[in-house]
Amino acid sequence: MRVLHTTSVDETRALGAALGRLALPGTVVALVGDLGAGKTAFAQGVGEGLGLAHGVQSPTFVLVDEHHGGRLPLVHADLYRLEEAGQLEQLGLEERLEAGDAVGLVEWADRFPHVLPADHLEVRLVHDGARRRLEIEATGPWHARLAERLGA
Ligand SMILES: Nc1ncnc2c1ncn2[C@@H]1O[C@H](COP(=O)(O)OP(=O)(O)O)[C@@H](O)[C@H]1O
Ligand SMILES: [Mg+2]
Repeated sequence: MRVLHTTSVDETRALGAALGRLALPGTVVALVGDLGAGKTAFAQGVGEGLGLAHGVQSPTFVLVDEHHGGRLPLVHADLYRLEEAGQLEQLGLEERLEAGDAVGLVEWADRFPHVLPADHLEVRLVHDGARRRLEIEATGPWHARLAERLGA
């Protein structure tokens, strides 16, 4: 596991941007952490790194947002308000992530972990006073390469 620290929202966005520049079609990132931990800030950075013209917002009300116009499509989900697994099937999120053409970001992925492909990247954001600790761990060999490059 790789552990990084940020001391401002801009630094967290910059880390997300680095990931956005390295991301490949099929990259899936689980964003885990309490409310206010910085999951959406990280996601906004990924959008920047992908070269999206329009900013990534918190998709709290739509659950899944898809952004085009960047280097790769960005699928951004927030499962905080999702009540039951049955709703997930209606969203088609699992299939969307499996299609492998887009970059997937799933906030609160730990609430419904089965939606993720077995090989994904987990970014766990932990409040540490004003700082955030980002624990980055790949769950399989394909995303492990991405994790290595991210910290380099
Ligand atoms: N180091 C940091 N990284 C990320 N966000 C930070 C940091 N320090 C302070 N913040 C603030 O914490 C909040 C994070 O909000 P957000 O990204 O929406 O969290 P989440 O999506 O995890 O609920 C923002 O208001 C941001 O300005
Ligand atoms: Mg959020």
